[in-house]
Amino acid sequence: MSPPEHFAVEYTINPWMDPTAPVDVELAVKQWENLRETLVRHEHTVHVLPPHAGLPDMVYAANGAFSVDGVVYGARFRYPQRSAEAALHRAFYDPGSWRFHDPVEINEGEGDFAYVPGTGGGVVLAGFGFRTDPTAHAEAQEVLGRPVVSLRLTDPRLYHLDVALAVLDDTNVTYYPGAFSDGSRRVLERLFPDAVLADEADALAFGLNLISDGRHAFLNSEATALGAKLSAAGYTPVHVELGELKKGGGSVRCCIAELRP
Ligand code: ARG
Repeated sequence: MSPPEHFAVEYTINPWMDPTAPVDVELAVKQWENLRETLVRHEHTVHVLPPHAGLPDMVYAANGAFSVDGVVYGARFRYPQRSAEAALHRAFYDPGSWRFHDPVEINEGEGDFAYVPGTGGGVVLAGFGFRTDPTAHAEAQEVLGRPVVSLRLTDPRLYHLDVALAVLDDTNVTYYPGAFSDGSRRVLERLFPDAVLADEADALAFGLNLISDGRHAFLNSEATALGAKLSAAGYTPVHVELGELKKGGGSVRCCIAELRP
């Protein structure tokens, strides 16, 4: 995670970003700190990547890389405003413990890649349509040696996979069907017949931008309806307020780059 000390909305690279709307950086830092503390309280280890002036979106750490089994597929950002973040993430991965691959293709890390460890011997779900290039899906498959399932995103408000779908445990996911093309929806139905289905309001409250440890699902405080659905499915929702970071187009999951050593 990387604290939003330099957070700002200075440009528009997704429909949520309005540079004329004021941002309260102090409040953003407080909300972020509360997310970090909530994860630590639930016995998760959080490493902090130092923020950089001039990189106002760096708080969305999920976009910096994607790792599986100690292999890291680095990010290559779509927009120049964020491209310098990739090298800062790269520097975090100590070559003694990680095998890092510099990407050729445009991809935004965990923003568009998700890992389901218990399905098909470990399958990677990958979004495209707005940010990550579909050519990066093939590259990720070569680098990670895992099947990559390409899913087409169709709603510009849900421009990354991690705002449309989340992995809940080793074999199950939650998603909003309306964020995907017909064919991709059919793929998801086949792979995950027991998925928790979210509705449009859940998705637009950034409810799907959640991170789960298999038991607790940490999700946005506004996503109460999705919280209730997750609870009915046997998970414990832990709601976290991240209103300031919504102004940049992200929530809980965007702030976290999950490490899979
Ligand atoms: N303003 C950032 C962007 O548009 C938000 C990124 C949100 N991150 C995510 N993993 N969905 O790139």
